[in-house]
Amino acid sequence: MPNSSKIQKLKEISFFLEVSEHDLLEIAAISTERHFAMGEIIIEENSKAEIFFIIYKGKIEILKKFEDGEEVVLGVYSDGEFFGEMAILDEGPRSATARAMEPTTVMQVSYKDFEKILGVVPQIAYEIMKELSVRLRQTGALLVWQLKRKNRELAEVSLNTIRAVVQSLEERNPFLKGHSERVSSLAVAIGTEMGLPEEEISSLELGGLLHDIGMIGISDTIINEARPLNNPEYDIIKQHPVDGKHMIELIPHLQQVLPHILSHHERFDGSGYPENLVGTQIPRAGRVIALADVFDALTTDRPQRKRMDSKAAVSYIVDQSGISFDPEIVSAFKALAENKNFPDEFY
Ligand SMILES: [Fe+2]
Repeated sequence: MPNSSKIQKLKEISFFLEVSEHDLLEIAAISTERHFAMGEIIIEENSKAEIFFIIYKGKIEILKKFEDGEEVVLGVYSDGEFFGEMAILDEGPRSATARAMEPTTVMQVSYKDFEKILGVVPQIAYEIMKELSVRLRQTGALLVWQLKRKNRELAEVSLNTIRAVVQSLEERNPFLKGHSERVSSLAVAIGTEMGLPEEEISSLELGGLLHDIGMIGISDTIINEARPLNNPEYDIIKQHPVDGKHMIELIPHLQQVLPHILSHHERFDGSGYPENLVGTQIPRAGRVIALADVFDALTTDRPQRKRMDSKAAVSYIVDQSGISFDPEIVSAFKALAENKNFPDEFY
């Protein structure tokens, strides 16, 4: 291409708006025009960086691929904008892929000549630095947002897996069906009524689902026994908080619910198990789940007895304030029971 026509094209690019005719001549001598079809890859992530691009006409997108194969668009650039600068500046491999979103014409400059441009036209270097800082900020914010979204997705998947495991555990006994899910919902509602921090409420949700996970090792014969359990059988049942804790101990991201599992059969007056903890020695989550657990047990049919209606169950729990249950939690529960149509809200 004759230099005059190239200079004409460079003049049309806003990137070179402030550049003098003399400097444009120099840039024209070191830049090459290239065309890319729609969908064509211009830069491949991780490849060696040797070229800097300025868009004459067209549109490109910068894509970052994550380990799970998902692609995120970091930016879209069109006429007059540039790309491919990052790897050129830090001399590392390309950190993202650039793809033409429509037929695109670029002016490209080699790595060596790019340095020349910066020397010849310092204001271009300054403009690039300013733009780069904006892009880095935007990319950082986007990646953080993406990471948070992925975390939420993972937490959701993990919660659903836990739900599936707990449901299959409850399948063994028709009387237990839905118990853990309801305890979880009620514990969350009590925690919310108490104004607990969001993190503690999420733990209650998880802990409610997992509180009886230790029952997995207990035989169906004992679980489904219709007569009152004898002492040795009851001793076996009483093992489930400790067994559950040991099971969940092996899963690093569930460590937060170990106190919930271990202490959900403790009683406020110290007569519970497995550690006979008293009052606020019992982790708060254990105190909340203990109440939700008993309320659900009372209001559902069990092998040895029929369900109690929810009003009677609420008044039983209120009577047990300071005995089985923490008075502060009982009053939150009572407020919840008075304001909402128990137990339909949770069933
Ligand atoms: Fe339990």
